Amino acid sequence: MSIPYLYSSGWGNTRLVWEYIATVFTKHWISLDFIDVAVSLPENILSDYNQLIFAAPTYDHGVLHEPFYRFLQAHKNRDLSNHGCAVIGLGDAKYDAQYNVESASLIETYIQEQKGTLITPSLRINKHPLGQLETLVNQRASTYIDTLDQTTSW
Ligand SMILES: Cc1cc2nc3c(=O)[nH]c(=O)nc-3n(C[C@H](O)[C@H](O)[C@H](O)COP(=O)(O)O)c2cc1C
Repeated sequence: MSIPYLYSSGWGNTRLVWEYIATVFTKHWISLDFIDVAVSLPENILSDYNQLIFAAPTYDHGVLHEPFYRFLQAHKNRDLSNHGCAVIGLGDAKYDAQYNVESASLIETYIQEQKGTLITPSLRINKHPLGQLETLVNQRASTYIDTLDQTTSW
């Protein structure tokens, strides 16, 4: 099975999360296709898969990283009703405690508007992800895989 990790990253943290999750998924024979939406905006990407992972950091007081914002704008009014979706948001409360990891909420709203289904609660990573990979990220990646096992015919 292959799942796209649709992401953008300013300084590499969101990419780092992909690198880690990809190693967890590989052990379960799932490949995590790495798609940097700042580099390419694949026209049919949302219809080519039935599971989607959206991952983006928060910038500028609760705003989506700009390439990711543009990606979502370019894919408005898509029917995601047959898609299982998962969200990974990054942020750091030292920049804005009120809009901490707001990217996750903004992506959730997008998915809801496109009638997609969140198959697992969003993974919200506050502060640098490095110290959270083996704990929070590992645990949530395993939960996600369990959910896929229960809901997807391989
Ligand atoms: C200029 C700037 C503004 C930021 N604004 C926010 C913010 O409003 N809310 C938040 O939770 N994190 C904010 N952050 C933190 C980033 O989202 C966080 O460092 C994230 O891990 C960056 O991921 P990336 O390296 O993939 O871009 C900001 C960071 C910078 C450098």
